[in-house]
Amino acid sequence: MALFKKKEINLPPPQHIAIIMDGNGRWAKKRGLPRTAGHGAGAEAFRRTANYCRTLGVKYLTVYAFSTENWKRSEEEVSGIMKLLGKYLEEALADMEKNHVRFRFFGDLSRLSPELQTLCQNAQERSSEYDEVQVNFCLNYGGRDEIVKAAKSFAREVAEGKRKPEELTEQLFDNYLYSAGVPDPELIIRPSGEMRTSNFLLWQSAYSEYVFMDVLWPDFSPKDLDAAIAEYHRRNRRFGGV
Ligand code: FPP
Repeated sequence: MALFKKKEINLPPPQHIAIIMDGNGRWAKKRGLPRTAGHGAGAEAFRRTANYCRTLGVKYLTVYAFSTENWKRSEEEVSGIMKLLGKYLEEALADMEKNHVRFRFFGDLSRLSPELQTLCQNAQERSSEYDEVQVNFCLNYGGRDEIVKAAKSFAREVAEGKRKPEELTEQLFDNYLYSAGVPDPELIIRPSGEMRTSNFLLWQSAYSEYVFMDVLWPDFSPKDLDAAIAEYHRRNRRFGGV
């Protein structure tokens, strides 16, 4: 990928960047380390990236932290990821007044441990008034699951007589998604060389620009984010027009 070009430096960053944090396991394997060490380094990469997004003025950062399919991994790996998330949220709660970051959680949190559910709930509630930067954690998240849940919620309201089927529009459907009220991401980054969407933000990514990069997530640096944003600015976004 071409690096940042000077003339692109002043272009504003996208308002909403989403990232599939991929490659932690391969990063660890290359070093002869357990996979959990890769996730630890991935959590550091997340901290780095979130800080840099804030410096750039990115308003929304959405990260794929745990998918509905990730439960298939070993218990040790799953509990390692959950521990890292818990540690991060505890720190975030302690620093909340200083950082002014708003947290949202996209996904079915009911399968998480009661402790982690409480941390998510506290982080979401205690940060709900902040509006500078918003981090959306996709946790036990699946794009298809999100759409099915939204359809069920709408159907329930129809059955209860609160809505009519004819009322449903794309704009109204947005309100039933985990991401209700959050603008769609303009840019989605997937590091690690994989070129799939992996059930991430299926509805919201209809017109997102995908940038696939070879770097493994734990090595992802501000320079890589600059490169992805520069690539985004080179794209000609037509939204179906000409
Ligand atoms: C995908 O890489 C990564 C995950 C399934 C977990 C992502 C979790 C973190 C980065 C830590 C979460 C904590 C915070 C604070 C954000 P992979 O394991 O599938 O990598 P591989 O494809 O190389 O095996």
